[in-house]
Amino acid sequence: MTLYAHITGWGTAIPEKTLTNDDLAKIVETNDEWIRERTGIERRHIAAPQESSASLGADAALKALKVANLHPRDVDLIICSTSSPQHLFPATASIIQDRIGAVNAGAFDLLAACTGFIFALNMATQAVRGGSVRNAVVIGAETLSRLVDWNDRTTCILFGDGAGAFVIQGSDQPGGVISAVMRSDGSGGDLLSLPAGGSAMPATSQTVADGLHYIQMNGREVFRFATRVMANATRETIEKAGLKIEDIDIIIPHQANLRIIDAAARGLKLPMDKFMVNLQEYGNTSTASIPIATVEAVESGRLRRDDKVVFVGFGGGLTWGAVTVIWTGPFPSEKPVNFQQQRRLATVRSWLRRLVRFLEGLIWGRKG
Ligand code: ACO
Repeated sequence: MTLYAHITGWGTAIPEKTLTNDDLAKIVETNDEWIRERTGIERRHIAAPQESSASLGADAALKALKVANLHPRDVDLIICSTSSPQHLFPATASIIQDRIGAVNAGAFDLLAACTGFIFALNMATQAVRGGSVRNAVVIGAETLSRLVDWNDRTTCILFGDGAGAFVIQGSDQPGGVISAVMRSDGSGGDLLSLPAGGSAMPATSQTVADGLHYIQMNGREVFRFATRVMANATRETIEKAGLKIEDIDIIIPHQANLRIIDAAARGLKLPMDKFMVNLQEYGNTSTASIPIATVEAVESGRLRRDDKVVFVGFGGGLTWGAVTVIWTGPFPSEKPVNFQQQRRLATVRSWLRRLVRFLEGLIWGRKG
């Protein structure tokens, strides 16, 4: 039996607090006109102190499960793509797994910068199509506001926080994710990086003083690279899917810069209205930008069942990729899941597990 991987649920989590271009002009030497003209961004959302990549990711995942009406215990796989993980380890995906009560899921993080969601979606698709996983949740979650230097006007104007998630479910009905392109070019890794904090350059007072824990970017080079790869990856995934560009109903690109999307549209000889654009509201939310834009496209009626959609992204690594999808929507299901109750249960279960571990430590004695 041939299995297909369908997108049956979707959700986002957007921090309430916004930061407009005018707000930024009070922090660094910039202005609304420059930011709008060069990027198209008008405002971005910034996580509150109690919010994190894991909390936003868990909220988005639960919303996606609700749309799919899928019980968290039926999730087999969680992939969280993020460049601003809660910690180096444990994986943000593990924290999300615990928070949503996905007790039967394996969970791991995937790092491919802004292309991460495309890569994660393809990996979950392959697991579902291979038959080892029935239900997967793919999350893009970022709090890049914590990693930008708020004194650096060349980067702090670009990024925003947020999360988006898809539920992927297997079925023998044709459709869902039908082709994918994944590419990397590590020779350009230095064009967009976070130099310190990893094993190459552990945190020291010097790395902090030198600002090496902030995002460093060669904006012009990243721009050139992005305009080159977006159109090519889109063409390639459409070809792999056995379709023509005129078959595609909507393209949902990574939301980094309006001029980059415009260049891709020109490269593909398509009008801009074929592209979903919402970066004016969110800025560049990195790997969360594609699912956030998708949910907006669904909610505004721009993306409907059976539509053919291309997701295309690029980012640090360097990485780029695209997928072609026949949009599905929720599978029919009988009994509605009570998600509020599930959330409470997940919290209680998590505390109980910690308590049991503590008691076991007392009974058996802790080593070391
Ligand atoms: N406000 C005002 N002036 C500014 C600002 C600012 N915020 N930032 C830079 N400038 C100045 C520069 O200092 C420069 O001045 P100069 O000519 O006197 O030297 C001038 O504006 C032009 O600077 P450029 O860097 O050439 O501006 P550019 O048109 O390239 O736009 C930008 C910069 C918006 C960053 C653009 O290069 C870009 O979008 N690059 C792609 C970035 C991107 O998408 N990154 C995310 C990748 S996804 C991921 O993996 C996270």
